[in-house]
Order: sequence, then C-alpha cells, then structure tokens
Amino acid sequence: MEVRVVPSEPDLTDATLVIGVLRELQPTPGSETAFARVDSLALEAAGFEGKKGESVVVPYPEARAALLVGLGEEADFDTVRAASGVAVRTVKTSRLVSLLPTIGIEQATRAVTEGSLLGGFQFRDYKTNGDGLSVTVVELVGGDETEMQEASVVAEATNRTRAWVNTPAMDLSPSDFASQIEELASSTSIEVDVWDRPRIEDEGLGALLGVAAGSDRDPRLVVLSYRPDGATSHLGLVGKGITFDSGGLSIKPASGMEDMKDDMAGAATVVAATVAIAQLQLPINVTCVTPITDNAISGDATRPGDVLRPVEGPTIEVLNTDAEGRLVLADGLGIVRRHQPDMIVDVATLTGAARVALGDRIAAVFASDDETAEKVLAAASRAGEHFWQMPLFKDYRKSLDSNIADIKNVSGSRYGGAIVAAVFLAEYAGDGPWAHLDIAGPAMSRETNGDHVKGASGIGVRTLVELARAGAAMGSG
Ligand code: BES
Ligand code: ZN
Ligand code: ZN
Repeated sequence: MEVRVVPSEPDLTDATLVIGVLRELQPTPGSETAFARVDSLALEAAGFEGKKGESVVVPYPEARAALLVGLGEEADFDTVRAASGVAVRTVKTSRLVSLLPTIGIEQATRAVTEGSLLGGFQFRDYKTNGDGLSVTVVELVGGDETEMQEASVVAEATNRTRAWVNTPAMDLSPSDFASQIEELASSTSIEVDVWDRPRIEDEGLGALLGVAAGSDRDPRLVVLSYRPDGATSHLGLVGKGITFDSGGLSIKPASGMEDMKDDMAGAATVVAATVAIAQLQLPINVTCVTPITDNAISGDATRPGDVLRPVEGPTIEVLNTDAEGRLVLADGLGIVRRHQPDMIVDVATLTGAARVALGDRIAAVFASDDETAEKVLAAASRAGEHFWQMPLFKDYRKSLDSNIADIKNVSGSRYGGAIVAAVFLAEYAGDGPWAHLDIAGPAMSRETNGDHVKGASGIGVRTLVELARAGAAMGSG
C-alpha cells in the first residue's frame, strides 16, 4: 500500500472518499462541504451515529462511494489514526481519498498515514488464497509531504517488525534472521557486523552460548552502528532475539509454547527502529546489539544447576532454563556497553509476569532513574504507544543470591517476576542511564481494532524512534 499527498480538489473518479464524522453526525471541521453532499436519509437508514469505530458506505457524487468513519467525541491523533485503520480495511476500491480533519495538518497527516499503513498490514505469506485488501493507494487531501514520508518510514519499520515476529520459527532460524537484518541494514548507511559461533566463542559470550547449547541451529549476535555526521549523543539498544523459546530442559507446557516464535520481538523492534532512525537521518549515534538463538532441548542443553560466564559481570547459576532472555541480554548489555552509549534501552518479551501485571496492551518500563523513565514515557506518549513504569526495587536482589555463583537467574518465587528480572538485568547494565522495556504482554495483538491487527503488534518501534528524535534534539541520549 502506498500513501501520497494530493491537492485540495482531488480527483474522485472511481475512488472512495473517506470523511470523519463526530458523535451525533457532526462533520469534523474542514469536512462540512463534503459531508453536506452525503444523503442524510441514507445515513439515518443505516443507523450511523458517528460513534468511535463505526463506519458506513454511502453513495457520493463523482466518487464510487463515500466511507463515513465515526470518531466519537473528538477528532484527535489517536481516534483519527484508529479510524484510518478501519477505513483501509473497509473500503472496496483500490483508491482511497482521505479528507484530513483539522487537528493540524502535520498531526492529521501523520495519523492518517500511520493508521492506513498499520491498519492495512496483512501477513499472508502462508495463506493459499487471495482475499487481501482492495486499497492500494491512500491519498491525503492537502497533506504535508515531509510528515507523510516520515510517518511512512516509521509505519513500515513497525510492519517489518510485525512480519518478522509473525514468521514461523521454522523459517526464521538465528542465521536467517541475522542475514535478513544484514540485508535490511545494508540498504542504509548503517554498518553491520554479524558474529557467528566461533566469534561469539572468541569473545567469551558464555551466557548466550549457554542458551544456544541445546540447539542444532547456531547462534548469532548482530551489531548495528549508525554514526551520522553531527551527532553529539549516543543511544545503545539491545533486543532479546530468541527465535523460539521451548523453555529448554525447564520445558514449557504446550499452551505456554504456542506463541513462542514471538520471543525475538525485542530484537526485531530494536533493529527496525535503528533502520528507521537511519532512514530519517536523525543526528544521533546508535549502537544496536541483538543476541539471537533458539532456546531448544538436546543432550547438550544447559541443565538447571549449570553456571554460565557472561562476557562481563556476575557469573550465573541457571536454575530455570526458561528464564533465558535475561541470560542473552546479559551478554548483549555487556557488548553494547563497550561502545559507551549515553543511554541504554533494552527491549524484550521477558516475563509472563509483565503480562499478568499490565495485560496485553501495555508494556512495562523499568529504569535506572526516574529521569530516564520519564524520557521513555514521554516518547511513548508522543508515539501513541502504551507504557507504564514499574519499580526497579533493589531489595529483591537478595532473592537472586546463588549458593555457588555470583547470581542465580530465578528467585524461586512466583511473585514479582517482571521486577526480579529487571533487577537481574541491572547487574549487567552498567552505571549509566538505562531503561528496560518488557513487552511480553503487548508483543502480540489478540484482535484487529483500529490500527492494530491480530498477530504481532510491532510495539516499541515508534517509541524508540521518538526517543532518538528527542535525544538528537537535546544533544543527550
Ligand atoms: N519468553 C518468556 C516470557 C513470555 C511469556 C513472553 C509469555 C511472552 C508471553 C520467557 O523466556 C520466560 O519463559 N519467562 C519465564 C521466567 C520464569 C521462569 C522466571 C516466565 O515468565 O514464566
Ligand atoms: Zn523462557
Ligand atoms: Zn523467552
């Protein structure tokens, strides 16, 4: 699907005109003339009231049809974006012409661009039959060209993440994933370094190797470096890249394993965000590190009670092989720290406990300090993604004391699991500003609604891009 900007007197031939309508059939400011040409009796007959999420197709002069989308009480960024997602899935012509509600040309352009591209995302690689969307072109009447292009970059990055996360583990091995990352990043000014098993062994990434031990598919670690001219700050990103999480010898029950192809969502998110940051040419250095491996089972698999040596920081007694994300992140954090970023953000589908706490629409943020948490939350709110701060409660560190190593990977208690995992990671994140985003809850959308589509959500990409934008503007990560 393509989004483009068109002049204020658009050609409506064979197109569907999309008009936003507020509660009680109030046209959005700017749409009065177009709305007046809609047959009010047709609307009444359809029972359309302009409620959020509602839509109706009616005849319209010159065009094939008009699609009226309900915006509820107010046309704001979120409602316009969601309504645009509904519109692209409803319209039956290949061209959709969208009137922009007056929430500011820039905001409206961004909302409709993102909503159309995100809401129109489809993953049909494994479907036999066609039955895709009709819309191939979305035209924004009087939109802002730059804003449209920037929003497209970010939406495409989100969709790239979604496609990777939706891909079955059988078709996305660590080496497949690493080469696809390399291919994508190579189309930008990003420098790519892919570490294979011998390199990972030479560098001493004992925690990543411990997780990879039970798998026939070799691990990888990918380092992306974006170094634009004029950058004064440096953002470090780390993403959990478990291409399939069986749990290892501490095997998951069948129901807990169903979604575990999504356990590389953190890696997909940080990579796609880094690529978007480079495409937008934001003046901020980014180093993005993704440890990638299966968590599988064989006679060589790491056993509960084994001790791993990460590249940097405390030795780890593995008492539960299903708490593997924190192990690969320990090595990922160790590598990113070598590049001395001003701020580190890791993204991971880390704990079922985060999902229990916040449900499947909200991601957890833990941070070394409140100022860093605030930066992430502010970026998330500009991006329209939902994050909530949770406490990095250091007293829980005691529950991770190991008898024979420096730390163990689980506390043994069922409670506060997302916090305990964050406290574990803090041991490897260094002394500088650091934020940990646990996206285990919202990595997968349970339903199609507005700009969300069932399956991988791509959450985090837009927040990271906004964070980089702010870091670039402030001159500090
Ligand atoms: N990948 C899982 C976390 C997860 C659970 C992601 C549900 C998405 C949906 C992670 O590796 C895991 O298994 N964590 C364990 C940790 C426990 C053993 C301390 C968990 O949350 O149960
Ligand atoms: Zn696990
Ligand atoms: Zn996992």
